[in-house]
Amino acid sequence: MGGAIAGGIFTNPDFPRENLVVTAMTKKSLDRISAACPGISVSMDNVSAVEGADLVIIAVKPWQTADVINEIKPALDYGTCTVASVVAGIGFAELAEMARKGGELPSLIRIIPNTAIALKQSTTFIASCRVSKQVSDDVMELFGLMGEVICVPEEMMAAGTSLASCGIAYALKYLDAAIKGGERIGFGTEEARKIVLNTMKGAIALLDTNGTMPQTEIDKVTTPGGYTFKGLTAMEENWFSEAVLQGLLKSM
Ligand SMILES: NC(=O)c1ccc[n+]([C@@H]2O[C@H](COP(=O)([O-])OP(=O)(O)OC[C@H]3O[C@@H](n4cnc5c(N)ncnc54)[C@H](OP(=O)(O)O)[C@@H]3O)[C@@H](O)[C@H]2O)c1
Repeated sequence: MGGAIAGGIFTNPDFPRENLVVTAMTKKSLDRISAACPGISVSMDNVSAVEGADLVIIAVKPWQTADVINEIKPALDYGTCTVASVVAGIGFAELAEMARKGGELPSLIRIIPNTAIALKQSTTFIASCRVSKQVSDDVMELFGLMGEVICVPEEMMAAGTSLASCGIAYALKYLDAAIKGGERIGFGTEEARKIVLNTMKGAIALLDTNGTMPQTEIDKVTTPGGYTFKGLTAMEENWFSEAVLQGLLKSM
């Protein structure tokens, strides 16, 4: 995720690349970043990387977050530096406690993209805490380069994570089931993959072009008693919509 964000920022011609530093634990990861973003500054030294930074984006696993914040916080000037986190499931209260320096707390931003950020097609949720409008606008603009940005109050971050970040896996799960189903009814894997992807692209094009909700387009192809009707009825008898809802609720 951190590499994808760096890649997205790097390809923006307006962003001063010399101001961007990426860190990781291993040289292997940094080599990968350097290959994707030639000339970018990379380092395994978190402390020197954050010195003088006005935005630090933490993109480590949840259980690594406290250690990284503890390591870098003496080098952060909370008067000028905003700490952003893409870590799912760690809220502002917990981040603030990790970052606290005596009575001093930083401005905090939570960012939840999805993996389509690598193709600049993320749906990214952003929430802010004690952040100036200027910084908030700058961060939105930055992540707007990598897809669609939705600003929400913190209490909506879990729902956003479920619907868009985990949601990309749920959308892929439907595609996976359709491809496997296609194999069962007689197509080869590659053939089924192509058919299902094209069908999905067609469905999205209909919604985009017509500005409709899915049910409107479903109604257009569903004749009572017809084949689509029978198929949809069988899906609902097997709890299709309920299964999707339960997945969303479970991942909040
Ligand atoms: N993946 C998603 O779809 C997604 C979506 C939304 C939010 N998130 C959040 O994004 C965060 C990262 O997820 P991910 O999937 O990108 O994990 P990941 O692939 O494991 O990446 C974590 C990165 O952190 C680096 N790292 C670990 N400890 C470090 C340290 N002490 N100093 C510097 N770098 C360190 C690792 O470096 P090495 O590679 O060298 O080990 C690795 O590159 C998670 O908290 C997750 O909740 C992920």
